[in-house]
Amino acid sequence: MRKISLSRFLIEEQREKNVISSELRLLIEVVARACKGISIAIGKGGLAGVLGSAGSDNIQGEVQKKLDVISNEILLEANEWGGHLAAMASEEMELPHPIPNRYPKGEYLLLFDPLDGSSNIDVNVSVGTIFSVLQCPEGVTPDEQAFLQPGVRQLCAGYAVYGPTTLLVLTLGDGVNVFTLDRELGSFVLTQENVRIPEDTREFAINASNARYWEAPVKRYVDEMLAGKDGPRGQDFNMRWVASMVADVHRILSRGGIFMYPIDSKTVAQGGKLRLMYEANPMAFIVEQAGGAATNGHERILDIQPQRLHQRVPVILGSKNEVARVTAFHTNTASAS
Ligand code: AHG
Ligand code: MN
Ligand code: MN
Repeated sequence: MRKISLSRFLIEEQREKNVISSELRLLIEVVARACKGISIAIGKGGLAGVLGSAGSDNIQGEVQKKLDVISNEILLEANEWGGHLAAMASEEMELPHPIPNRYPKGEYLLLFDPLDGSSNIDVNVSVGTIFSVLQCPEGVTPDEQAFLQPGVRQLCAGYAVYGPTTLLVLTLGDGVNVFTLDRELGSFVLTQENVRIPEDTREFAINASNARYWEAPVKRYVDEMLAGKDGPRGQDFNMRWVASMVADVHRILSRGGIFMYPIDSKTVAQGGKLRLMYEANPMAFIVEQAGGAATNGHERILDIQPQRLHQRVPVILGSKNEVARVTAFHTNTASAS
């Protein structure tokens, strides 16, 4: 079988389809290399003493795990010196990270969730890295304001899943491709091209322990699925919740499904649980590029104009027809009240 490495794939995308520049190609290669570094650190686990808490909180008031901090540092260090970036922003840092003066600057903005699913690190369950790339508006200082662009403007988005295999899932806006880390070669190899999410599904993902806090449209939607064959849907549904968004989204990319982290009365003050800029937007871009849909219950996630770097947002994404159904429940409730 002909093996296409990530490098070759990117060169061909640039040369034949002209969908990326050399700088963007470099950026993706550097992020992929950083993900390899993170994968190695995670794989060592207790052998290298990388498990457990770092003893600090991040800007969101969440306890940082050692691997949250290590992954953030790996991504920062890898991306500082290549000359491809104007600035970076991360879940783990309050403010954007400028490129040090001693290095040349580029035209792109990189956002990341260095380690997604941190509650799963210490129990040896899949975690991941999520990233998003925007263009820095010309002549603009790459401060927080420069990052506040709607998701439709993303040039590239991706995630790595550190599971039984390490995968890199990537979109450049012309479909979604999956690369598997060949640990002997030390490189990512294309293993799935132009992935498509089935439009219909019988599988849903939601943290059901929040059920009593949900709003009526989500309650109704989930209740109808739970009623199975005997309810209005006339069929049984299955439920899965890994609690690492990357792993849940990757399952949906692989076999369909719907993922929901809706607004609820517990998180209403902060606008939801997941972060728009480095969780919802990149995942929404990937899911849409694979033929799925992503909304906040009312509007397309990619159309939301961000107000803050660490803004949170309700997320409903996955198989198109199911996302449309639960989104319609929200819209109908709004017009009825
Ligand atoms: P992070 O580890 O980057 O803070 O993100 C965790 C997120 C997401 O990965 C997952 O879907 C969700 O939190 C899980 O939330 P619950 O613990 O409430 O199930
Ligand atoms: Mn996360
Ligand atoms: Mn994280």
